[in-house]
Amino acid sequence: MMDGMERRIYLDHAATTPTDPRVVSAMLPYLTTAWGNASSIYAEARAARKGLDDARRTVAGVFGSKPNEVVFTSGGTEADNLAIRGVALARRGRGDQIITTAIEHHAVLHSCEALAKEGMRVTYLPVDGEGSVDLDALRAALDDRTLLVSVMYANNEVGTIEPIAEVARIVHGHDPRIPVHTDAVQAAGALDLDVDALGVDLLSVAAHKLYGPKGVGALYVRGRTPFLPQTVGGSQERNRRAGTENVAAAVGLATALRLAYEERDARRPRVAAMRDRLLDELPRRVPGTIVTGPRDRGRRLPNSASFAFENVEGEAVLLQLDLQGVAASSGSACTTASLEPSHVLVALGVPERYLRGSLRLTLGHENSMDDVDSLLDVLPRAVEKIRALAPA
Ligand SMILES: Cc1ncc(COP(=O)(O)O)c(C=O)c1O
Repeated sequence: MMDGMERRIYLDHAATTPTDPRVVSAMLPYLTTAWGNASSIYAEARAARKGLDDARRTVAGVFGSKPNEVVFTSGGTEADNLAIRGVALARRGRGDQIITTAIEHHAVLHSCEALAKEGMRVTYLPVDGEGSVDLDALRAALDDRTLLVSVMYANNEVGTIEPIAEVARIVHGHDPRIPVHTDAVQAAGALDLDVDALGVDLLSVAAHKLYGPKGVGALYVRGRTPFLPQTVGGSQERNRRAGTENVAAAVGLATALRLAYEERDARRPRVAAMRDRLLDELPRRVPGTIVTGPRDRGRRLPNSASFAFENVEGEAVLLQLDLQGVAASSGSACTTASLEPSHVLVALGVPERYLRGSLRLTLGHENSMDDVDSLLDVLPRAVEKIRALAPA
């Protein structure tokens, strides 16, 4: 799979994906010939401006939004920060509460924690044992000082798809002025992003999760949503994010999104079949394994299989798999380096003896059933070896 290396099996597409060569080709002209500053007025700038405008229209097409409701960002993290800070601070005069869930990505959680230090109240909604947000808790939490609600579309560690349209209905039924944000970074490419069907006011995506380049994402901001820019110093992105536009990156995001939705239906059954084989077989082959996340596969991302092993250190499993040529993850790339158990698994109520033994396998369309079989072959021995070396 990777040039110059032994055969590698990459099963960590939730961390990032290889860049599609067609995306690279679409970006190249904006790095070589059409390199002008998209905000200037002369001929050199116009080709860049056209590339940026076309990219914005393409992204808006996927969101079912107006192009001017799309703000390009440096990725999912910035889109999440911008959504939460941008709206909560703009609406500050109306209240002090932000409602989110216990299982968000740290890009959302840390944004909320920072605002808590600035005097806001943050309510973390609980989830059930499969990761679905508690809608009764949402109803109970909403009050007349709620500034913003942020619930992720799909979870990055256990693949749970959240009922976003229902969340938006509940929030807007309480008060139509309260903006609803969804972090769709993991959902993008797999699930519909039509912002009107979802009923959301803000939505974050990142290109590198869907075969686009790293370092670019987008935030959808519904027209008239109160919004305070968090980067100042220029009028780019309609005053919502200052700084010379990264046209090549925006074109990369737009191309990756377009291809993901054009090819989704053709690719999905194969990817879901690989996921299902992992979910069915892995617990059979490795004693003391539970599946984490939804049992109902319709409520799980089609490419995501997640597990936890009893009394095994997940990091040790990952190292063994790496030695055998397999790239996998214990959960989110961001928590890999920390020794804390995953906040997501804790929120799901996963029993203590499983908490350090998580494994996330996320598939891509370049994987094959042979990759799955190889994993199913090497994993039981890897876990057995670790259990023998370090009995818990
Ligand atoms: C759900 C979720 N939100 C946000 C992010 C952050 O996106 P980025 O890596 O583009 O900053 C990630 C990436 O892991 C994610 O999975």
